Amino acid sequence: MQHDALIDLLDRMTLEEKVGQLVQLTGDFYSDRADARTGPMAQLGVKDSELANVGTVLGVSGAEECARIQRSYMARNRLHIPTMFMADIIHGYRTIFPITLAIGASWNTRAAETAAEVSAREASAAGLSLTFSPMVDLVRDPRWGRVMESTGEDPYLNARMAEAFVHGYQGDDLLGDTSRVAACVKHFAGYGAPVAGREYNTVNMSERQLRDMYLPGYRAAIAAGAKTVMTAFNTVDGIPATGNRHLMRDILRGEWGFDGVLISDFNAVRELEAHGVAADDRQAADLAMHAGVDIEMMSICYMRELPGLIREGRVDASLVDEAVLRILTLKNDLGLFEHPFRGVDPEAPTVVRPDATSRAAARRVAAQSAVLLANHGSVLPLRSFTTVALLGPVARSHDVLGSWSAQGVPAEAVSLADGLQEAARRHDIDLEVARYGQKPEDYTKLDDATFQEAVALARRADVVVLALGEPSAMSGEASSRTDIRLPQAQVELFDAVRAVNPHVVVVLSNGRPLDLGQIDGAQAILESWFLGTESGAALADILCGDTNPSGRLSMSFPESVGQVPVYYNGDTTGRPYEVAPQEKYVSKYLDAGNYARYPFGFGLSYSHFVYGEPELTSTTFDAEHPLEIAVDVTNDSDADGVDVVQLYVRDPVAAVVRPVRELKGFHRVAIAAHETVTVRFTLCERDVRYVHPDLAERSDPGDFLVSVGPNSRDLNSPMTVRLTETAA
Ligand code: GLC
Repeated sequence: MQHDALIDLLDRMTLEEKVGQLVQLTGDFYSDRADARTGPMAQLGVKDSELANVGTVLGVSGAEECARIQRSYMARNRLHIPTMFMADIIHGYRTIFPITLAIGASWNTRAAETAAEVSAREASAAGLSLTFSPMVDLVRDPRWGRVMESTGEDPYLNARMAEAFVHGYQGDDLLGDTSRVAACVKHFAGYGAPVAGREYNTVNMSERQLRDMYLPGYRAAIAAGAKTVMTAFNTVDGIPATGNRHLMRDILRGEWGFDGVLISDFNAVRELEAHGVAADDRQAADLAMHAGVDIEMMSICYMRELPGLIREGRVDASLVDEAVLRILTLKNDLGLFEHPFRGVDPEAPTVVRPDATSRAAARRVAAQSAVLLANHGSVLPLRSFTTVALLGPVARSHDVLGSWSAQGVPAEAVSLADGLQEAARRHDIDLEVARYGQKPEDYTKLDDATFQEAVALARRADVVVLALGEPSAMSGEASSRTDIRLPQAQVELFDAVRAVNPHVVVVLSNGRPLDLGQIDGAQAILESWFLGTESGAALADILCGDTNPSGRLSMSFPESVGQVPVYYNGDTTGRPYEVAPQEKYVSKYLDAGNYARYPFGFGLSYSHFVYGEPELTSTTFDAEHPLEIAVDVTNDSDADGVDVVQLYVRDPVAAVVRPVRELKGFHRVAIAAHETVTVRFTLCERDVRYVHPDLAERSDPGDFLVSVGPNSRDLNSPMTVRLTETAA
């Protein structure tokens, strides 16, 4: 539809119809079972007659159900405006990919784009037009359950991944390509920094830090064309994001020029009252509308209060018109006026299921997302003609999809046992899999039979693969933990097994960085997160050497929760520990180290990569003349592999205290056995910009320290380069 036609449509809408477009309700309000509908309607106070004007639907999927709702909706809507289906397709719709924290650990933007493409294809075929993804909240606190949804602790990596997700979801032609869906970058802003890692808790930081560290990811997603943004539950500088005019109107829409749809999180408009910045629904609607929230998700302050606010002159009708026009434009950008069923054939709705292609993609991304944290004595990869015992509560578990796994079916997933049994046959490995201790509750308590069987199997095996971890319910929304260790029963199992066999390979399945101190004695540790539908197949590929692991942590693993938050890009201090580690009066603890047990960017390979001394094309650069850093990386092993070569920069003297190092580039590089590859980085003036006290982002002329290496800790000695003049 042409834009003028949209304006004409808007002009023909009554105020009630306009306000209806600003509301989003869950699918049960449209259920064809009256009892399923009247409950929610009564609870929220929505009248049946109002449903025909509600603009969008949350959380419904399935081609047949979406087609049914759309058909009846358009018949009842006076102007035949189509509704639109939105849902949380975070890391897969039916074919489930690794959780986003794991995809971040792939350091492969192509992996993110693939996951998004397959997700979009399946979601669109199931009737959805938008996904509430990518979640781009920067995270530093593993106590928070939603770190599993994030790509980690670094602004640069988050930004690259956010761009890739948006492009994978939306493609280049959202109107013409019905295999794509609109993206929604969330949660704007700073949701990943709740005080004490407690879900929905206050976020306390300066605007300068918010802009410097937390906003770049969202900004990159919007620059990549994300069609919508979701407000965060939390406060930003004392004002809830959903009612924060400065954040939404000044920064998001003013500075960044975002003119897409801004949707609140679930009930977040009404929660302005619980936050204590609105006395009632009327004030909540007033605040949110002035902040620029277009769609109110699952509360009806707009529906009940906007007509009165307009009549009183508290809200200008033009604000409502602007919001409605953005929603109509979004629907139009998706072609819904001409094709209201979009990716669905309403006469022959299909059921989306994983297929060979989607499974192959999921297996490939999963294999790139696992991180090898330890491999003492190169116990991995497992060798042919060995006896392997597969033990532990996760061994046969299908709880491998993780939180936010949409329509994923655990039974369709490949468990570790499934995958390893198939691989063992290929590799002449004699595999025995424990029978006991495989129920969901066995994650937190294990009976004597389990222990006895485990010890017996471990005693007679050459190598033990011990599958441990969190159930998926321990991470995700509303799942913060104060104790980030493995359940005690699992530690006891580890100790019992290791007492009879020192060759223990632990495979971890978890949704957050954990304190792994209690399994330090493991000969190998493979971090598998929740790898999704093809989890067991991908893990078996790695364990048996068919895949050389290449994952690198996108979030630090602390020594203990007492260190939290611990992250690689912390600011320096006036008494830096590194300068005088033996001194008492320096920044350190009495009872723990300062550093993560496994740092950002860390991960092992079956190959052995050796870094040469980096070379600079120049020791100076400016806005017109970037400089290049080249480093030779040699694979000094017999195993072809992939390394993730990382570039870090430090600004030793600036107008504000700066991080001890910041990621400014990375390359995933395939390096064949005994081959040497030259990896090149370009350092530009814009790479060294930062947010100054006046909140402007710019660079300063001066020296910078540049380092290259395989992770944020093991870096070559820094080289000094000089920015001779900043951008005009
Ligand atoms: C949830 C989440 C948000 C999600 C929304 C809709 O509470 O905070 O990420 O998109 O509700 O399900």
